[in-house]
Amino acid sequence: MSQTTTDHGEVPDLAVVLPGMRVSYEGEALNEADLAPTWTEQLQRWLDEAISSGVSEPNAMVLATADPEGRPSSRTVLCKGLDSRGVAFYTNYTSAKSHELASTRYASATFPWYLLHRQVHIRGPVEKVPAAETAKYWASRPRGSQLGAWASPQSGIMPDRRALENALKAVERRFADVEEIPPPPHWGGWRIKPDVVEFWQGREDRMHDRLRYVRDDDEWRIERVAP
Ligand SMILES: Cc1cc2nc3c(=O)[nH]c(=O)nc-3n(C[C@H](O)[C@H](O)[C@H](O)COP(=O)(O)O)c2cc1C
Repeated sequence: MSQTTTDHGEVPDLAVVLPGMRVSYEGEALNEADLAPTWTEQLQRWLDEAISSGVSEPNAMVLATADPEGRPSSRTVLCKGLDSRGVAFYTNYTSAKSHELASTRYASATFPWYLLHRQVHIRGPVEKVPAAETAKYWASRPRGSQLGAWASPQSGIMPDRRALENALKAVERRFADVEEIPPPPHWGGWRIKPDVVEFWQGREDRMHDRLRYVRDDDEWRIERVAP
């Protein structure tokens, strides 16, 4: 990968460059009156806008989990389901993230739509996606991704790349005559059932709009938060 250079071919001094890097936001306002009646519809609306604006991987979200001692980890996953029950993604149930979700039962996720000067943050308890729903999504995945899910002990230490490739070859042999590969028992979905969903719109002079849907039992209220 090539190193970033200035117009004169010099490598920039990050100690000088980083403090000066900032983007001015002149985005449209996000007012209470603009919000959809539910967080689900508002998130669908912004996701539609992210998709139609050409945001790269618009359904990518940064998922944060914590271990039982409260030490956090984050990584990107793809949102594959969005409805009033919550936001779903699929992964390996023996991965580091799944161990943390299984023990703390809580997660947060952030959609980072920098191109639109927007982000959406959700937080809440998690539950596993029912097996029948997982199977439906699994069937829509390309065969190569299905084989990869069978082959990869996600988050496990591998001695080298070859070990991973050998695992894939073994799985390819195993399923060579199988037309419809079943989902692995160690693979499936998690759903975050938000109790807070925050919509952030960048505005001029760092006077951003932050509007939150907050759950109170079965009722939702809207809060404005200082930027
Ligand atoms: C754009 C993007 C999308 C990703 N989507 C997923 C996903 O949907 N599910 C998944 O398990 N990992 C996904 N990954 C890989 C994860 O970020 C992560 O490396 C992996 O899940 C292992 O995380 P863990 O060891 O913390 O459990 C994605 C990575 C990127 C960059």
